[in-house]
Amino acid sequence: MSLTLDFTGRNVVVVGGTSGINRGIAELFARHGARVAVASRKAEKVADTVAALEGHGAEAMGFVADVRDMGAVEAGLKTVHDAWGDFDVLVSGAAGNFPASVNGMSANAFRSVVDIDLMGTLHVMKASFPFLRKPGASVVNISAPQAFLPMPGQAHVSAAKAGVDMITRTLAIEWGAHGVRVNSVVPGPIGGTEGMARLAPTPEAIGKVAASVPLGRLGTPDDIGHACMFLGSDLGAYVSGAVLPVDGGWAQSGCGGMGAFLGKLVQQLEGQR
Ligand code: HXC
Ligand code: NAP
Repeated sequence: MSLTLDFTGRNVVVVGGTSGINRGIAELFARHGARVAVASRKAEKVADTVAALEGHGAEAMGFVADVRDMGAVEAGLKTVHDAWGDFDVLVSGAAGNFPASVNGMSANAFRSVVDIDLMGTLHVMKASFPFLRKPGASVVNISAPQAFLPMPGQAHVSAAKAGVDMITRTLAIEWGAHGVRVNSVVPGPIGGTEGMARLAPTPEAIGKVAASVPLGRLGTPDDIGHACMFLGSDLGAYVSGAVLPVDGGWAQSGCGGMGAFLGKLVQQLEGQR
């Protein structure tokens, strides 16, 4: 068996791969030789990311799809499969988030996050299955600490991401027989991202979050990408059904009081309305 982080000749698809953490993951695979395809809702973000991937010397392509639309996801994944063949690594990370209490959001607001994060993951899983390399493919779903730690203003995200992790764990069983591994990666607070801008919207808040991480710093997209590369390579050949925090120990410390901080933020935001 070759134990290598060289992805030359491998096909990697990153759904929701056009900004933040997921784009960092896509770029890391591209820098390590993979062909990389990305997808999201906005054509200009897809085009910009494909250009960046090509800038790393990778073969790259992209498609526009809203993960809430199963047909669009199926059609887009088919274009990648038609061009390159079976997928070796699939990362599914499209997500939406905003801080709002259950009383402060409509049922539709709750549903929008569940539709993107949970139903979107289901659509990506179902649509990709025919195109995964069998045996050998590695699937990584991007989760969040809210999946196992409740925080005020995050009920919609918690419900959705807990569901994502249960899809991961169930598919590890169902797809194991096909030689397909399925894992979740749970990022901690990652600097410079949309997610952190929404939950910790001031430099002071960001500083407090960073100080609350046992390793004493925010994570980077590369930190998350390295875990995806491990899971996507032969180094992870016996890892399936794992829900892997990559967070500098943050979850073990109850996410450093993020819940209390978010409680105040939500009160403030909802008091202004
Ligand atoms: C209350 C809100 C709201 C808010 C939107 N809504 N923002 N309710 N407080 N701040 C409501 C709207 O009023 C509407 O309900 C419903 O949600 C859908 O809103 P739309 O704008 O029509 O939806 P859409 O255009 O589909 O956009 C989806 C979205 C948006 C989730 C609302 O924010 C988005 O596209 N986000 C993608 C980017 C993102 O969030 N990235 C961060 C991921 S980070 P009504 O009833 O009026 O119809 C992450 C974890 C971070 O996931 C963890 C850090 C530790
Ligand atoms: P981000 O930059 O907003 O990334 C979200 C990506 O998903 C974008 O490419 C976005 O592109 C796409 N997307 C959103 N809604 C979509 C939809 N309906 N259909 C298709 N694509 C869609 O956010 P991020 O902060 O880097 O977060 C990335 C992932 O990490 C998410 O799964 C998030 O839950 C998780 N996470 C983040 C943090 C953090 O610190 N940021 C912590 C824990 C977990 P378009 O706008 O073009 O659609």
